[in-house]
Amino acid sequence: MRYGYFDEENKEYVITRPDTPAPWVNYLGSPEYGAIVSNNAGGYSFAKSGANGRILRYVFNQFDQPGRYIYLRDNENADYWSASWQPVGKDLKEYKCECRHGTAYTKMKAQYSGITSEVRYYVPLGRSYEVWNLSVKNDSDRERELTITGYAEFTNHSNYEQDQVNLQYSQFITRTVFRGDRVQQLIHANLDQIEEGKEVDHKIVSSRFFGLAGAEVKSWSGEKEGFLGRYHGYDRPTGVESGVLENKGNYNGNGCGALSTVLTLQPGEAKEIAFVAGMKKDAEAAKILADYKDPAAVCEKEIKELICHWHEKISHFQIKTPSQEFDTMINTWNAYNCFMTFIWSRAASFTYCGLRNGYGYRDTVQDIQGVIHLAPEMAKEKIRFMLSAQVDNGGGLPLVKFTHNPGHEDTPDDVSYVQETGHPEYRADDALWLFPTVYKYIAETGDLKFIDEVIPYANKGTATVYEHLKQAITFSMNHLGKHGMPAGLYADWNDCLRLGKDGESAFVAMQFYYAMRILKEFAQYKEDSVYQSYLEEKQKELGALIQKYCWNEDRFIRGYTETGEMIGRRSDPEANMWLNPQSWAVISGLASKDQTNQILDLVYERLNTEYGAILMDPPYHAHAFDGALAVIYNAGSKENAGIFSQSQGWLILAEALRGNGEKAFTYFMENAPAAQNDRAEIRKLEPYCYGQFTEGKASPNFGESHVHWLTGTASTVMVGCVEGILGMRPDFYGIHVSPSVPKSWESFEIEKDFRGCHLQIKVSNPGHVQSGCRELLVNGKKMEGNYIPQQELTAQTTVELFMS
Ligand code: GLC
Repeated sequence: MRYGYFDEENKEYVITRPDTPAPWVNYLGSPEYGAIVSNNAGGYSFAKSGANGRILRYVFNQFDQPGRYIYLRDNENADYWSASWQPVGKDLKEYKCECRHGTAYTKMKAQYSGITSEVRYYVPLGRSYEVWNLSVKNDSDRERELTITGYAEFTNHSNYEQDQVNLQYSQFITRTVFRGDRVQQLIHANLDQIEEGKEVDHKIVSSRFFGLAGAEVKSWSGEKEGFLGRYHGYDRPTGVESGVLENKGNYNGNGCGALSTVLTLQPGEAKEIAFVAGMKKDAEAAKILADYKDPAAVCEKEIKELICHWHEKISHFQIKTPSQEFDTMINTWNAYNCFMTFIWSRAASFTYCGLRNGYGYRDTVQDIQGVIHLAPEMAKEKIRFMLSAQVDNGGGLPLVKFTHNPGHEDTPDDVSYVQETGHPEYRADDALWLFPTVYKYIAETGDLKFIDEVIPYANKGTATVYEHLKQAITFSMNHLGKHGMPAGLYADWNDCLRLGKDGESAFVAMQFYYAMRILKEFAQYKEDSVYQSYLEEKQKELGALIQKYCWNEDRFIRGYTETGEMIGRRSDPEANMWLNPQSWAVISGLASKDQTNQILDLVYERLNTEYGAILMDPPYHAHAFDGALAVIYNAGSKENAGIFSQSQGWLILAEALRGNGEKAFTYFMENAPAAQNDRAEIRKLEPYCYGQFTEGKASPNFGESHVHWLTGTASTVMVGCVEGILGMRPDFYGIHVSPSVPKSWESFEIEKDFRGCHLQIKVSNPGHVQSGCRELLVNGKKMEGNYIPQQELTAQTTVELFMS
């Protein structure tokens, strides 16, 4: 079943049925002001921090309420509806609507009783407030008088948790007042006599507003209970039913902003207004509202700016292939998803309630990979930041606070850090993610100078990027387990695996092997031959250890427990086959050709399903070892044999690296949101963004996906597709073009900005193969193999690749 379609030209997803199987949301704004809005206008907003800057309330785990509601009331017959289908929820036989989620804006159009409305929600570029721009048109043949009411439910406290659970406190600090064109909410209003710059118990007055521009406020309400009425829901607020608001603010209880205006429309006439909300003091709010006096002109311009901004960002890599689903993901939605994870980390969604007040090390370093081909400068800045969150012993800070202060942070070795963040120990993999990320950035840009840039450590001291990476190797060297492979520590990529300091993780061992392979290239560039030979030797030793201790009959195991027990052995009753050690054996370059074929075939046979490959099989139930925390989850969910979507990205890459384009693409399609547009009732999640996992075959809800938007899947699948399937593999000095595609692809095109040049790449596949290069022409000149050295690039470079 489908609920909408992709509008390729406008880069919008159009929801044509509002009763979607879950709220389908969009992100608006920036870290200065963030807003999440669903197709039924549900959602919340915050300034600077999802945890501590919450402005509009949302009740999680409920039925997508409250939200940014606009009610329309026909004063002739007192009938009313909303500009989004919910909350009033008119009968869909009479109420026609369409929601368009675009890049950082959302539009909702509704037609009911001869009135067409369109509301556009957005946060203007570079601004820290939100706009709900409404246009209303009279399509009937008589004059109509409508009362339009905007409703914003303020939180009582900027801290989400205080607002939701500490009611004996948070209900007694809020007041709302009316200021002509807006409701102004004051939190801790009673502190208004405190001198500027001073605080009482760390508290000051904070101020939010909800205002109207383009029309006059006829009545208002500043208290939730007064607006809704006791025992009324958002579907039938007293204030809307009666057609006039009570003109009363709140003092204690729950504040809100509700503003009504009356529009009289002649047949065919349209009018435009704008509601504006934000966390601003009185004078600033007044100034902002004054800017929207002519909403029609201002809002149109601002939305165009947003479109230009985002379309420019994603324009640097565009493809045209025989697969519409692939194109729409790579060109628009996966790209946009990557920017959202890059910007919002795991802070705020409808699943992440906003309490994570920091960046997870591995997640953030992984997220960077998804935007390198689109916005390398943004990536560089975040890489610097993450290197400055590496401790001088080489490990990463498991949680990097939003207030991160390089050179002055405590570490997991300090009780204070553990107390503050709740992260008791280092994780085995955190700093190892730096290797592919830093490498990809330098290879994309050719910015070799970055290798020598000096960056502080989190706790003390500074080092060049090269030395930071060397130190990450040292960290793993200093944390080896019994067999000489990296210890599992508190966890590796899999948060549910506690292998401890005496246990060992095969996945981390492979990452470590890969890290050494990457760092050898740096050492060679630095002409650091002593270190290069050191890495050569250590990598060889590690490779031999992995082969000796982790190869089990026809697969790689997952690791060793503290007591030396093997995890993921073929003969184990549960969890005897794991996905990541197979894909990573290939990605890291450790697996031999025979092993590669054997393990990837076995993955397909044992783990693949129609929605992607499950993380391991069979799920833990009766045979979990002590550190196998996955057992706490229902079988088929999350790390307990769910289809962990991020791992599909590595599998796509591994298959592409072995040249099996069919399989790589199959894995892409099985879990690609766009490819499931027609089975939305099964997947449930938005068909335009990734989720953390899909329930596996052990679950009765097989195929249902969860934890939308903010997941490492976005960047990892992007890399799997761009580097893997499309074969864009830059190195320090140029770029390999090495696609692995389905045989049926006769030809496809890639437009890529690369090191200040524009590459127009045309790949022909007349022989219908899956990979391999017969001939590569650059500006008509034949290259050696499939490699384009930097010096061959011109401002407009034409690249023709003939596969064989
Ligand atoms: C979640 C975490 C991520 C972890 C993954 C697997 O997605 O955010 O850090 O790697 O789960 O456990």
